[in-house]
Amino acid sequence: MRDRFEEQIIEMLDKFTERAAMLGVRICRLDAMHDGPFADMHSQITPPESGWETVELSDGRLVGVLTPSRRTEHAVVAVCSDQEARLESARVLELLGTIANDLLEAGDSNQAMHEYCSYLTRSYENMAMIYRLVRSLGRIGSAEEVVGHSIENMIDTLECDWAAAVFADDPRMLGELSGKVFASGVGLDPKEIERSARLLLDRFGNNESIAITPEENDGVGAVIQSIRFRSTRVGDLVMAGKRDEEGDVSSFDTQLMEAVSACIASLLETIRLYEEQAETFVGTLRAFSSSLDAKDPYTRGHSERVALLGKELALASGMSEAEADRVHLAGTLHDIGKIGIPDRVLCKPGRLTDEEFGMIKRHPRIGYDILKPIPMVRDLLPGVLHHHERWDGRGYPEKLAGEEIPLMARVLAVADTFDAMSSNRAYRPARERHEVLEEIGRCAGSQFDPDLVPAFLAMDLEPFDLMLARHRKEMVDTQTSADAKAA
Ligand SMILES: [Fe+2]
Repeated sequence: MRDRFEEQIIEMLDKFTERAAMLGVRICRLDAMHDGPFADMHSQITPPESGWETVELSDGRLVGVLTPSRRTEHAVVAVCSDQEARLESARVLELLGTIANDLLEAGDSNQAMHEYCSYLTRSYENMAMIYRLVRSLGRIGSAEEVVGHSIENMIDTLECDWAAAVFADDPRMLGELSGKVFASGVGLDPKEIERSARLLLDRFGNNESIAITPEENDGVGAVIQSIRFRSTRVGDLVMAGKRDEEGDVSSFDTQLMEAVSACIASLLETIRLYEEQAETFVGTLRAFSSSLDAKDPYTRGHSERVALLGKELALASGMSEAEADRVHLAGTLHDIGKIGIPDRVLCKPGRLTDEEFGMIKRHPRIGYDILKPIPMVRDLLPGVLHHHERWDGRGYPEKLAGEEIPLMARVLAVADTFDAMSSNRAYRPARERHEVLEEIGRCAGSQFDPDLVPAFLAMDLEPFDLMLARHRKEMVDTQTSADAKAA
């Protein structure tokens, strides 16, 4: 296979042959002199390491030998046609040597310029890729997307056959990236790339960073670069099969891989910090919501149970696990607006007056206003604001009807009502299970989304009953200790 400079060398030799012919000199490739009229010369000629040399043969003839750019395989011999005129031959060969050196010098300058341009291009491409990577780090919540794009970009920037990121199985450190493999290669099956990457890691993976030469790896150059996060090696980047002629990896490749690894580590750190902050924050909201429920012994644990039922119903009605988790959190927070309702109304043991009920009806809007400025719960706002809407449009606060009501809110409405009817209240005991289920079934299409009700009625309510029993026990225990203190 011809390398990137071989074409240039051959072009230079063609020019040299042309000019030699004008001087009446014949040019032969050294490796083609085994046979034919110059066969006797071949054994007497050893080409110079590089450049031009005049050689005197055993019969006194002079020949010029040229090795272009240290490529002895391209060495040529200049044979003057006039064997008799030795002096004349020496002059001609001297002139030819000057021409050869000029051509070589021009070729070397050309090669140096080419290498320099190539260096600048590679530097630019590397910087452009790192810039794209750093920009993509700003998109929190899409770690898979960022890593996937990085691997695809690596293929183009490194001009290699394939690249992969192999992550350890460590959900605590890596979250959604745990155990994942991202593979990209032109016309290659990702499974095959993964297999090749794992084979390389088995052979060379004890190195943090290694450039593997084609000789070491069955003719395929490769690079392995570890990915470290908080001092732990959590994965590796692997690339292989440089598409240029030599197939060798360069310092550009290792530097770029190192930069990509650092960007992924930075992405992991950002995600971890975000998650830690979100966990702390959501934990605070949960505690807050739970303490609101506990203000009134009869609503203790209400939000936790609505969250449980909401998630189960979301799953039963075909929502994904991730969506159901958001419904769960919305259930936890759905009544957080009750913070704005006076205790005398919120904890009133008897029936509410119209005015008091009007105050209670403000809690979805208050909850919405409390949570609205917080980006990490913004997707829960429809559930909080609309969980008291009714399918027939007679609910509150906006009297939405049917599918105008966001699905999350329709799910929570069923869960909320079921729990309210299943729990004791100051003014009435909990209703029997069969009554509650009959009521839910009767309200399909009036209060509730008729498509959700069958799914709810088919749900296993044992987890709910266990939770309800726990909350009742906590209520009794709290009451007992309060009575003991009072005594
Ligand atoms: Fe509510």
